[in-house]
Amino acid sequence: MSVEGHAREQWGTRIGLVLAMAGNAVGLGNFLRFPVQAAQNGGGTFMIPYFISFLLLGIPMMWIEWGIGRYGGAHGHGTVPGMFDVLTDRKMKWAKYLGILGVVMPLVVFIYYTYVASWMLGFSFFSLTGDFFGLDGVDEMRSYLYSYQNIFESSSHGGWIALLFFIITIGFLAWVLSRGISAGIEKLALVGMPILFLFAFLLVVRVLTLPAVEAAPAEGLNFIWNPDWRSLGNAKVWLAAAGQMFFTLSIGMGCIQTYASYLRKRDDITLTGLSTAATNEFAEVVLGGTIAIPAAVVFFGVAGATAIANRGSYDLGIVAMGVVFQGLPGPQILGQLAAFLWFFLLFIAGVTSCVALASPTLAFLQEEMGMTRRNAARVVAGLGLVLGMFHVVFYQKGVLGEWDYWAGTFGLVLFATIEIILFSFVFGIDRGWEELHKGADIRIPRIYKPIMKWVTPLFLITLLSWWSVTEAFPKVLMRGVDSGDVPYLWLARLLMLALLAIGLVLLKRAWARKTSDT
Ligand code: TRP
Ligand code: TRP
Repeated sequence: MSVEGHAREQWGTRIGLVLAMAGNAVGLGNFLRFPVQAAQNGGGTFMIPYFISFLLLGIPMMWIEWGIGRYGGAHGHGTVPGMFDVLTDRKMKWAKYLGILGVVMPLVVFIYYTYVASWMLGFSFFSLTGDFFGLDGVDEMRSYLYSYQNIFESSSHGGWIALLFFIITIGFLAWVLSRGISAGIEKLALVGMPILFLFAFLLVVRVLTLPAVEAAPAEGLNFIWNPDWRSLGNAKVWLAAAGQMFFTLSIGMGCIQTYASYLRKRDDITLTGLSTAATNEFAEVVLGGTIAIPAAVVFFGVAGATAIANRGSYDLGIVAMGVVFQGLPGPQILGQLAAFLWFFLLFIAGVTSCVALASPTLAFLQEEMGMTRRNAARVVAGLGLVLGMFHVVFYQKGVLGEWDYWAGTFGLVLFATIEIILFSFVFGIDRGWEELHKGADIRIPRIYKPIMKWVTPLFLITLLSWWSVTEAFPKVLMRGVDSGDVPYLWLARLLMLALLAIGLVLLKRAWARKTSDT
């Protein structure tokens, strides 16, 4: 223990920090979710609400979360409950209980996201072995994916193969996490992110130089970027753009705050925060937008690619891409290698996000519950494995989608709304503005002060209300859900609520202990 009370871990280097934060943000969302969202929501015109969301929502929330994180870290707190406590000058006892969302939501997302990331490892492996080469139609490839996802169905390989790759992935994450912030997470980013960018770059070049099959690559770019102006009047498109912005930048979760808590008190956050957001946008719009959709257009034509995109991220990223790699010109081994580049790129993007998702729980167990890092890593990995089994076994029932909706979509907006109100109104925008500029390398344009105080909160509240009425409410009632799935979805919800309840109890006990210590 140092003089300040806690000897907190710190990032080793600035480049390591930027890559770790970029690794946090750059994930499956950039390469799988973004192209599908863009294609489904108006193509080129999607970029208008998307860019506005970036300026009015993404950027301000990004800075605020970095600020809250660094401030909390300086007060010995690496997770949001403690951060909300100090942000309200310890006067609002309830604030820390709201903050528990910033630990439980990332844990929930960690569990299913790791499972999805582990598929990418499985598919990397099967690319190298050429296992799915020969299944060169969309339907065959889709059956292959379903068989992988369904442990009760072993038409393509042993049913439990998905579990094997899940265990390997969790084991790897446990190892990285137990090494700590600088030697584990930062090191992973320093090695992984350059590989990710290299692979993405190679794939972009490969896609753009494809010979025309159904269409030329340029038509693919035209398809994803061709504006449909009618879509701008559609509220659904705006919600999709804002939702994608949240998801891709990892905001509204608690993870950026935890990463930022390992900054030193006077480390810059204005320029560094902006750089990581820009890196993510490059990876998303330029790289993510230029691989899967254009490749699908080349091989399936515009109509075919539209049909695929409408079936969602996995149909595009796994099924369609799986077929594309088999149709590449040249010997099969080159196609296998290209497939490996793609799936392994996704795996790296996934695991660098997984460690970020695990970090709030890890920090909470260490700081508020007094565990060692090693034990905390074991607990997180164990929880991931045990609760992950729920998704491994019941994936077909839609339980993963249910968790993703509440903890990975709706929850983000709710949490960000609470957070910005505490920052701009309770902590106060003047103090907040000053806090953000401590050690700053650039000044934030002044216009962002009124934006952070009024525009972003109003944007969020509008979004939240609209979303509640049009989506969340019908979702709560499970409208249109297959009746056989209903009990499983209830179980999925109960599990999330149970995690939340456990979090609240642990938090209460941790604070009771703290106040009796002093
Ligand atoms: N940004 C990640 C992606 O694009 C997903 C994500 C959302 C995330 N929230 C997060 C990752 C929090 C890490 C931490 O796929
Ligand atoms: N299922 C989402 C879609 O089809 C994408 C998505 C959301 C996702 N959360 C995820 C993909 C987590 C992987 C991991 O658009």
